[in-house]
Amino acid sequence: MLDLSKYDRVFLLTDELVAKCCQPVLPLCGVQQSAFSSQLVLPAGEEQKNIQTVQKIWDWLFEQQATRSSLLINLGGGVICDMGGFAASTYMRGIAYLNIPTTLLAMVDAGTGGKTGVDFGTPLVKNGIGVFAEPVETIICPELLSSLPAEQLLSGYAEMIKHAILQSPEALAELLEYDLRKVATPAFGDVIRRSVAFKQSVVEQDPHDQGLRQILNFGHTVGHAIEALLLAKSQKSAKPHGWCVMYGMVAEAYLSHMICGLPTETVSTLSRFMLENYGAAPITCNDYEALLQLMLHDKKNKEQGTIVCTLLQSVGQPVTGQTVTPQQLREALEYLCSL
Ligand code: GLY
Repeated sequence: MLDLSKYDRVFLLTDELVAKCCQPVLPLCGVQQSAFSSQLVLPAGEEQKNIQTVQKIWDWLFEQQATRSSLLINLGGGVICDMGGFAASTYMRGIAYLNIPTTLLAMVDAGTGGKTGVDFGTPLVKNGIGVFAEPVETIICPELLSSLPAEQLLSGYAEMIKHAILQSPEALAELLEYDLRKVATPAFGDVIRRSVAFKQSVVEQDPHDQGLRQILNFGHTVGHAIEALLLAKSQKSAKPHGWCVMYGMVAEAYLSHMICGLPTETVSTLSRFMLENYGAAPITCNDYEALLQLMLHDKKNKEQGTIVCTLLQSVGQPVTGQTVTPQQLREALEYLCSL
């Protein structure tokens, strides 16, 4: 059971969707509804992740007279965890917050690592305003996943595959062989916790994303470009974040083979896993130039006109800051489209 006795009061932040499907499950996660002094239920959706909504959260905390000894619990996906973390860490110069992520993606990504913030600016910059502030705890409760659609489970699973490929051949083999129908079980809770522990070990060594933490960008240079392109085409063609990371990891595994000598068996194994679980990447050769333009403008590049990726020498041996030429990227996209 979660010990909340050291806080004067506990506040719950969630959204309308989560309140309906996940809040009734909270006692299974060791949290009783009676623990909350007050709760704020926001509308659901990425479009809520802005400074106006943060102001609503601050207003609510002031109205409720939350103090520096209060705790904010964020129950929700990435939007609630990122935005609630930001509101808590700026309210009265920072109060404690705790995440209970309700999607697999948020469990293994946004729920840990302390990257908090909101989208900001014109054009909109994702996480344009934010601070690094670690939650006091992240509660992993696989029972919350029972109502999550398979597409969303696979989105989080791709980030777990990413952690495993960065970590070790054993960690990767475990996930490639795991029966994906068993993800909402307590046994899977331990698999998630190991994935989170790996991310946590990286974050502890580089909390402010100045070096080592950039290994977590594996698959994201190509993946973010695919995600942005599909979204720009239409809402209907958009794919969840983790699916695009899976396509990106296959392209970047191919680049890793070309540039860093990653064995072809690893590229083939990852490609097979992608095809079996996510299907072929929804892009064609007509998309290469638009994808390259998006990659050239990726904020991970330090210099204009270069494309920088995290690549792999082998499973468990990532290398950050690898400069990749547009021609090498075209070849990698060609490989991805050939599958
Ligand atoms: N999502 C990658 C990181 O937290 O650094």
